[in-house]
Amino acid sequence: DWRMEDVLEEEMEKIRLQVGPTDHVICALSGGVDSTVAATLVLGDRLHCVFVDNGLLRYKEAERVMDTFNQHLHLPVCKVDDADRMLGRLKGLSDPEAKRKAIGAEFIDGTLYPDVIESCPPPGKGQKHSHTIKSHHNVGGLPEDLQFELIEPLRELFKDEVRSLGRLLGVPEQFISRHPFPGPGLAVRIIGDVTEGDRLDVLREVDEVFINSIREWGLYDKIWQAFAVFLPVRSVGVQGDQRTHSHVVALRAVTSSDGMTADWYPFQPDFLRYVSTKICNTVRSVNRVVYDVTSKPPGTIEWE
Ligand code: XMP
Repeated sequence: DWRMEDVLEEEMEKIRLQVGPTDHVICALSGGVDSTVAATLVLGDRLHCVFVDNGLLRYKEAERVMDTFNQHLHLPVCKVDDADRMLGRLKGLSDPEAKRKAIGAEFIDGTLYPDVIESCPPPGKGQKHSHTIKSHHNVGGLPEDLQFELIEPLRELFKDEVRSLGRLLGVPEQFISRHPFPGPGLAVRIIGDVTEGDRLDVLREVDEVFINSIREWGLYDKIWQAFAVFLPVRSVGVQGDQRTHSHVVALRAVTSSDGMTADWYPFQPDFLRYVSTKICNTVRSVNRVVYDVTSKPPGTIEWE
């Protein structure tokens, strides 16, 4: 792909110009395609990769991402655990904007400096990280007194271009083809309060069953994004000969080319029957599954 080769050359040249010969670079990896491709662009022993478990990740995501980085990318990554702080900040918040603000604030002052610098020191003594890579919009308003210079290699590229660039760089397909996942994570997929235990765990289990089913049926690559949403209501049901009063989850799957507009994915009834049965049988505290048939617009892809 001639165009992507030019883009690659330009991006590498920009980074070479920006990063001086003794400078170091920090890259916060999320496990998604953008940050993985960004890190691959700067590979070298002056690159320090960090993965933050913010408590809002999917089922076993932190373990899986760390394993994949080690095994397939041979990229040393250090893990920072920010889950308690993040969930602490979210406690009692149910308004979508308030939740997003709290998460954004924690991204900035919870993870950017102290934990990262203490647990991920650069190799040489007395050296300072002088650059940090920004690959997305989650850390919007960075503080003025930032002691870093930002590198934003993928800023002008669409997702499909980032994917092409990643293929050119030899990034393993399992990173390239992953569905996008929002920075605020499962917090925007739990309507209302985000609490550990019940809500986050129920959502993680349901999401895992849904995504695995989509893969089993060979549908993963036909879909831009698929996920479950936890609804703050209970419904009456019957399981065995017991009346139940349990959780309701919504499933969402959309096609899109850039996330700006989207269509709901027309699953076959057989698939919907399979997945709803599987969810209710696997996740005992869920007794009802609904499917979201709203396109964007008027709906957004996420529910919050
Ligand atoms: P919406 O819900 O606005 O989402 O239709 C469009 C795309 O953006 C993702 N999204 C986000 N990604 N930080 C992110 O990194 C965010 O705050 C955020 N909000 C939404 C969403 O998953 C979809 O792919």
